[in-house]
This record gives sequence, structure tokens and C-alpha cells, in this order.
Amino acid sequence: MNVTASNREVTLKKIVVTGALGQLGMALLEQSKYHKDFYYVFLSRKDFDITSRDNISSVFDTHQPDVVINTAAYTAVDAAEDDKDQAFLINETAVGYLAEECKKRDCALIHVSTDYVFDGDKSTAYVESDNPNPQTVYGVSKLGGEQLIEASNISKYAIIRTSWVYSVYGHNFVKTMLRLGEERGQLSVVNDQLGCPTWANDLADTILTVARELKEDSSGVYHFSNKGSITWYDFAKAIFENSQMDVLITPVTSDSFPTKAERPKNSVLDTHKIEKQFQVDIPEWGSSLQKMLKRL
Ligand SMILES: NC(=O)c1ccc[n+]([C@@H]2O[C@H](COP(=O)([O-])OP(=O)(O)OC[C@H]3O[C@@H](n4cnc5c(N)ncnc54)[C@H](OP(=O)(O)O)[C@@H]3O)[C@@H](O)[C@H]2O)c1
Repeated sequence: MNVTASNREVTLKKIVVTGALGQLGMALLEQSKYHKDFYYVFLSRKDFDITSRDNISSVFDTHQPDVVINTAAYTAVDAAEDDKDQAFLINETAVGYLAEECKKRDCALIHVSTDYVFDGDKSTAYVESDNPNPQTVYGVSKLGGEQLIEASNISKYAIIRTSWVYSVYGHNFVKTMLRLGEERGQLSVVNDQLGCPTWANDLADTILTVARELKEDSSGVYHFSNKGSITWYDFAKAIFENSQMDVLITPVTSDSFPTKAERPKNSVLDTHKIEKQFQVDIPEWGSSLQKMLKRL
């Protein structure tokens, strides 16, 4: 995909979005129509492979971006445990390439990261200054990407950590629950992991506000998710209630669903810093879930 949006006035600043066919990439394309202060170029992996330095250089030559939004990532958390080289190449090394090129060309970089940089052992919400301690290949590789950005001395950047992302696009918990609920009529869902769902469209909106407002002195790490914290079981219950589906759900512990990569018990992110710095109003998870379900 190589899509351009917005009007073509040459005075508009230009944003290049990587990973354009992913959940967040597609949500950015949707929300870009409400943020007309930019000229947008959306590039999928086929047109912009961030692991290729030549490709990065030619995309910068062609599009001359003022801001790059990097949504591209290796996101298969369990597969990453056996596919370390690819996970590190995409989530760490390539992010370093992007940061270097942005620094060289005086371009701002907005990069998306994850709650998996934390171990999940904290009993309250994670703030940006908490020590990362990733427990999975995915988490370590994403933290590596963050560290390369910070080491690059790029003057304008934002690393936005998020959690439990869902949308009408791609694979995610909401779509999986709806499918399994339909197929089986009864399900067991984990009730001992706490987090906050993030509707990709809300995250996209905030990212585009950050793109507009980002300055050298507001560069840094930020947390974003919808408001409120729940378990996967609570989330599943709300999905079925809001979809008027009669599905019997049983709460179970994580031991019932062993996964190759262990999930953090607490994924809750404190979002006060981004709200205050960029004056964004973050919706409650329940109202965003309703909006998303209406779009299916
Ligand atoms: N999903 C979540 O629950 C979640 C939670 C926390 C943080 N995040 C972070 O949020 C960001 C967006 O996630 P998402 O849910 O939108 O992920 P996604 O749906 O998996 O999209 C990621 C996109 O990146 C593309 N990609 C992979 N390797 C690439 C490469 N070398 N060059 C260019 N593009 C490449 C993928 O293309 P292919 O499909 O062709 O591989 C895919 O379109 C990621 O940084 C992720 O780590 C996600």
C-alpha cells in the first residue's frame, strides 16, 4: 500500500507512517481525516521495509518527511520466543536505523512500544520512570528499540507505550472473542491479568496530536491506553454484553492457558503524563469498545 491522504498544499508538514496495513497503521489512516494539518504518506511493509537501510534512505529521499510514525513491528509475542533474530531485527535494529536517519535528516520520530517492557509485578499502574524488566523476547526486543532511539540523540521523538490494542482491523482479542463466542457458545477466559484495552483509533488520534505538538523539550517516553483497568474476563464479558450475545464465560487463571511467552500479571499504564503534556482527553475503555463494535 502506498496511500497519500489530506490535501496537497506544499506548506503542510509531511508524515510518513510505517506498517500501514497493521491495526494501528489502518487506524491512523482513518483518523488522519480529522487531523488536516499534515500531508500523509502511508507505506506498508511491501513499500517500506524498515529493516533495509537502502529502503529507509530512498523513502526519505522520495518523501522528505517531517515526522515518521513507526507502527511497524514484529508483534507475534509467542512466535518471537523461537524467532529471536527476526524479532530483534524488526523491533530493535531497524528502529535504530530509523532513528539514525531521522537524526541525520532532522525529522521527528514517533515510535510505538509496549507494556511488555515491564515485568508486570508492580501492584499499581506503571509510570514512564519505572524500571523496565521485560520477561519475553518480544519485550526485550521492543525495549532495545526504545534504547536505540534514546541513544541516537535525535532532537524530537516520542516513544509511546501502549497495551491490549484492538480495532476492526487484523487479529485482536475482541475479534477473537466474537468468533469463538459464535462458534462455541461458552468460553473460559483468564481473570488474573490486569490491564487496559486500547482502541487503536483513540491511540491514533493521540499520536497525531503528539505529531502536531511535539517539541524538543516534550520529547521522551509516554504511556497511552484507554482509561480504567480490567481483566481479560471482564473485557470478554463486556464484549458479549455489548454485542447482545448469550455466551457463557468462566473465569480461569493463567495456568489454564500456558503460553510460550509469559504474560505480565499487571499491564496497567499510568497515562497522566501524555494527558497533561499534550492536553489529550482519553476515553474510558467501555465507551471506546462500544464505538468499535458499532463499526464491525
Ligand atoms: N497489538 C497489541 O496489543 C499491542 C500492544 C502493545 C503495543 N503494541 C505495539 O503497537 C504497534 C502497532 O501494533 P499493531 O497492533 O498495529 O501491530 P500489527 O497489526 O501486527 O501491525 C504491524 C505491522 O508492521 C508490519 N511490519 C512487520 N515487519 C515490518 C518491516 N520489516 N517493515 C515494515 N513493516 C513491517 C506488519 O506487516 P506484515 O503483516 O506484512 O508482517 C504489520 O502490518 C507495534 O509497535 C506494537 O509493538 C501493540
